[in-house]
Amino acid sequence: MIPWLSFLFAQSLLSPFTQSLAINYTVDDSAPDPRTGNSILYSPDTEWNTATLCQGGSGPTKCLAQPDKTVVSDGTWHDSTFFPGMDNVPITATFRFEGTAIYVYCVLVGEFFLGDTDMTFVLDGQAIGHFTEEAPSGADYEYNVLAFSDSSLPPGSHELKILNGANGEKSFMILDRIVYS
Ligand SMILES: *[C@@H]1O[C@H](CO)[C@@H](O)[C@H](O)[C@H]1NC(C)=O
Repeated sequence: MIPWLSFLFAQSLLSPFTQSLAINYTVDDSAPDPRTGNSILYSPDTEWNTATLCQGGSGPTKCLAQPDKTVVSDGTWHDSTFFPGMDNVPITATFRFEGTAIYVYCVLVGEFFLGDTDMTFVLDGQAIGHFTEEAPSGADYEYNVLAFSDSSLPPGSHELKILNGANGEKSFMILDRIVYS
């Protein structure tokens, strides 16, 4: 058999198995992992706004960014802003999971609000991804933006740390959910 044919053959034999073995778990920004109970940890706590904070008692004016609750996962989000020179500790969201793939979904907000996004993704202590994007123009929101994905992780336990604004630029981010397989 010529090599590419045998490759295709092996793929077609294997893919039904790999597909049936992979199960996606969705972890909302504000709810524990339905499988393990692990929650996403936010640090420093005071640098993060939640949907409840932004739309709760003190009213929608508390936060500039007001994503549509009917579009985001579970009606919730976490947002933070990194100001260079003012924030001396990294602003992070950390999640521990066991699996071979991870996907991070965010919301982007128009420049009218808070501006550009600059995130660094650190897996098991190694920076392996960046997401830098200028804010969409006007007051538009972009939902379900896949900011980071890696589907070739070695099986086992992993820690994903998202750093907001680690490169010294002002950065605004909204985390909606994490999916892992
Ligand atoms: C898991 O989710 C990712 C991203 O949403 C998707 O690309 C992938 O096909 C999904 N895998 C399974 C097994 O459903």
